[in-house]
Amino acid sequence: MNASPKLELLEISASDATHYPNAVTKVRNGDLTALVVRGVYDAVAMAWATEQLELADSGRGVMAGVRRTTFPEKFNGWFYGQNLNLLTDGLDEYFNEGPSYLKRLDALLPRGEGFTERLLPLLSSLDEGRPYSAPPGPRQGKNYQVTTIRGHGCKGYIPPHCDNEQAHNPSYEHLLTLVRDDLFSVVLAFNRPQSGGVLEVYDYVVPACARVPIALASTVLRPDLSRACSLLLPLSPGDIVVVDSGRHYHRVTPVEGIRTRWTACSFMAHAINRRAVYCWG
Ligand SMILES: [Fe+2]
Repeated sequence: MNASPKLELLEISASDATHYPNAVTKVRNGDLTALVVRGVYDAVAMAWATEQLELADSGRGVMAGVRRTTFPEKFNGWFYGQNLNLLTDGLDEYFNEGPSYLKRLDALLPRGEGFTERLLPLLSSLDEGRPYSAPPGPRQGKNYQVTTIRGHGCKGYIPPHCDNEQAHNPSYEHLLTLVRDDLFSVVLAFNRPQSGGVLEVYDYVVPACARVPIALASTVLRPDLSRACSLLLPLSPGDIVVVDSGRHYHRVTPVEGIRTRWTACSFMAHAINRRAVYCWG
């Protein structure tokens, strides 16, 4: 394993995005570790969306009836939509539920500014115009779920990992025929916890030969990150961060306080034989 020589952050406002057409390329080639875009959605819209997310479990609001899936218990986190990394029993249900999940996701965001209407085109403008979309599934007309919404409760966290490790899971078998190596990711913040719950990216890159599936993560020697430099990336409601998370170790620090941390998170990769980027949750 190699330590990367530097951590570089670019922070811009959403209204300036067109001035940075190569920003995602810089994340992909290692010139930038992370790109923060402030104000992709306004704070009022995010406050309303957060309220809707809080109502979902009691069967109310625009997310009523959405499927809730969970992280491993100790992480105190859960998803609306299904995380491809954690699926073990085939993908039929995942693909069948995609359209109704997408409908709810669009209802959560301002009219005409849904995830695929606002956020993906913004990423495209930051990535030399490459189209961003959910990958097509193995059966015609059924796409992968473009993102998951994630809740993390008090003391919820995600331990250090790199996202390329996820691609070892059997649920990626078909997807790996569509994308090139090295995942990256985007996180949209709906709100901010009282404290903690911050994405932290370490100055530590894992080469392909040293990656292990996350299920085996606890059985192998992990690097000592205690002395590694890191970038803490606190987001305000409506901000996004694009991270070279496939190769860089990163984590979410424990959420402190009673306020749930709500985000949407998509993994992304360049399409094989297409000048395009695929996004999935
Ligand atoms: Fe990750």
